Amino acid sequence: MADVKRRDFLGMALGGVAGVGAIAALVAMKKTWDPLPSVVSAGFTTVDVGGMQEGEMRDTQWRGKPVYILKKKSGDEILPARDFKLAGAYYCIGIKICTHLGCIPNWKANDGLFLCPCHGGQFTGDGINIEGTPPPRPFDIPPFAVKGDTTLILGESGKEYEAMLKASGNS
Ligand code: FES
Repeated sequence: MADVKRRDFLGMALGGVAGVGAIAALVAMKKTWDPLPSVVSAGFTTVDVGGMQEGEMRDTQWRGKPVYILKKKSGDEILPARDFKLAGAYYCIGIKICTHLGCIPNWKANDGLFLCPCHGGQFTGDGINIEGTPPPRPFDIPPFAVKGDTTLILGESGKEYEAMLKASGNS
């Protein structure tokens, strides 16, 4: 009788140890599968456009790519496929990588143009390629969402971004 009780106890003890081991293994596996926090946060960039003056450009990065945000001047032409409204002002946004062969164009504020140092490509402030220069299409636009009156979240697809896609016929 004492033997049976001892065997039950040993069985339960072994089962308990095995159960704890299995849970620890599952936790370890989940940690392996989950992306690192740095990878999760790398998908989004928060930009504060508060305090920007008309005609001012702000540079940032999204997923390692150079992104610009330009606050348009009152009286500038508004292009629904390239511009969005935030707190009563219009802005344009684009990935500043030349669509010819991938160089990084420079902003020439006096001319209101991006000039590509590699083969002379040109883009307007709205990111549209100038005809007769090598780039075959406008700058790409990163997905973004507007939060409040001054914040953009790059990497999130908000209604302003969706509206721009629709206006460009890409939705
Ligand atoms: Fe910009 Fe060629 S890479 S013009």
